[in-house]
Amino acid sequence: GIPLYKMFIEGWAQVKDFQARPDDLLISTYPKSGTAWLSEIMDMIYQDGDVKKCRRDAIYNRVPFLEMKDSGIPSGVEQLENTPYPWLVMTYLPVQLLPQSFWEKNCKIIYMARNPKDVVLSYYYFYQMAKLHPDPGTLAEFLETFLAGKAAYGSWYDHVQGWWEKRKEKKSLIFGCLLMSTALQDPRQEVKKILHFPGKEVAEGTVERILHNTAFQAMKKNPAANYETMPTALMDHNLSPFLRKGICGDWKNYFTVAQNEHFDRHY
Ligand code: A3P
Repeated sequence: GIPLYKMFIEGWAQVKDFQARPDDLLISTYPKSGTAWLSEIMDMIYQDGDVKKCRRDAIYNRVPFLEMKDSGIPSGVEQLENTPYPWLVMTYLPVQLLPQSFWEKNCKIIYMARNPKDVVLSYYYFYQMAKLHPDPGTLAEFLETFLAGKAAYGSWYDHVQGWWEKRKEKKSLIFGCLLMSTALQDPRQEVKKILHFPGKEVAEGTVERILHNTAFQAMKKNPAANYETMPTALMDHNLSPFLRKGICGDWKNYFTVAQNEHFDRHY
């Protein structure tokens, strides 16, 4: 019952049988909830804040996208298999579709959630620029698609709730729900919290470097973080940049009063 990209479904057997290792760390979110940001922060932590090392490759190669599959490029699983351990892995999968090995190996997982009004707006622009999506229509139309759970990866509510419920069962494993709004308000506090999760100790200066290099404007300028190296046939940044605005509450500039009320009632 989860709408997914056709190519991803074709590669499903490889994803289902994926063998995670105990040291792997999984970054999980509903799409457009700050995955690239969290991935950049985690890679910087893993590389001890070494900016040069974090420019070694594009973010989607440094932190492979588990279920990704497209013609002519290695799948997420193949990419991981060619990456040195420990692996940082990212996924948008709802909790019930996560490959079993992540649970069997007790992997640590960070889940990040974002205000769904900002998610739907960001998703609307992403549907236009990332070419594997169908035409989203108008924002009003896409709002209905999203609320009906018909956007790729399905219902936002089910996604967040599913992971939230799992956290109760696996408290020691799941870092919990990191909110993009909190991370934007006080990134220092959030980065410090995240540091403890994989058990990393870094000097204060490293935290500063992480904050500096993962700030929206810094990432937007960084070709290793801003997705500009993705072929235009897959992502057209002229239609909308991948790092679009990076703020909370942008929905207020787009929703009508009626759309907002409709959303609130649905929520
Ligand atoms: P907007 O479209 O609202 O700007 P994902 O990586 O899960 O696809 O999420 C993309 C969203 O995260 C985009 O939101 C993007 O701009 C935002 N984002 C990425 N890096 C960010 C950063 N360093 N600071 C704030 N927001 C960031």
